[in-house]
Amino acid sequence: MKLELFQLQKEALTAVETSLEATALKEIRIRYLGKEGAISRLSEGMRHLSKEERPIMGKLLNELRLSFTQALEAKESHFRELADAAAFSSLDTTLPGITSLRGSMHPLTILTDRAVQIFRRLGFAIAQGPDIETQWHCFDALNTPEHHPARNDQDTFYLPDGRLLRTHTSTIQIRAMENAAPPLRIIAPGSAYRRDEVDATHLAQFTQMEGLYVAEGVSLADLKGTLEFFFREFFGPETECRFRPHFFPFTEPSYEIDVRSCSLNGKWMELAGCGMVDPAVFEAISKRRGDAAYDPEGVSGFAFGFGLDRLVMSLTGIADIRMLTENDLRFLQRFIS
Ligand code: PHE
Repeated sequence: MKLELFQLQKEALTAVETSLEATALKEIRIRYLGKEGAISRLSEGMRHLSKEERPIMGKLLNELRLSFTQALEAKESHFRELADAAAFSSLDTTLPGITSLRGSMHPLTILTDRAVQIFRRLGFAIAQGPDIETQWHCFDALNTPEHHPARNDQDTFYLPDGRLLRTHTSTIQIRAMENAAPPLRIIAPGSAYRRDEVDATHLAQFTQMEGLYVAEGVSLADLKGTLEFFFREFFGPETECRFRPHFFPFTEPSYEIDVRSCSLNGKWMELAGCGMVDPAVFEAISKRRGDAAYDPEGVSGFAFGFGLDRLVMSLTGIADIRMLTENDLRFLQRFIS
């Protein structure tokens, strides 16, 4: 049997050595190592050996298997290298490559993210809500009953079932208060819709960011402090803010905020609306919740909101708001960082 073994070893190694291509190697592998292969058959034969002979032959057989497998694998990888080299030989590495276009964030997303980051440092959490809303969340709960003239300013798109596309993200604040008791500190970035004729300064869909802080003893000083901090972080430390009295049905008192900053060409820009949450809003929420968590005698709060589209226009110097939705790569590529 020893002789048989040595002969087999010689034969197998020669087969590997003289093989000319990968498919031949595959056959050789099966011929010797396959279930019915020569080496396997030899191992079978071990059963008939005497106790003394078995370990000796076993060792030799293992050596045979090892040397054969090693030779086989070396040859296999040699053939693989040859195949790779052949595949790459037609490749001209001196030809210019095809550069792929690099993507970038939309300027509105970049600004939204920056604003969110500042508010997060102040402890505001992000809240979200549906774009298709009920009239109650968009108007009634915000102290704007049917036939209130403020509804005209915010005319929107109605669905046949009476629901509408939200005219501001204040709807998210209502939903947040419905679902959680104070203290509540949220920002609500998202799309809002109005039935505006689309032109260079108007879109029917725009991007807003609103915020709400409700707790015991929240005051106008908190509102001013928070927003002044925000605008200085957002536009730069030299930024000035001006709070102008205004009217919103859902806040009392209400203000519009003008901001002047070098990054806005040093001109005053009307930027945001804000105010102390009107007790009527808290009453609507209390009725809906059926508890006293938002009792206007116990809690107070401030709210604010601003649009991001016009801001992008000022910061980037584009004259037509429609560029934000046209997907013109010449415009979008300016924001690759
Ligand atoms: N919701 C108002 C708007 O869309 C903005 C605003 C929010 C004003 C909160 C005051 C308080 O114009």
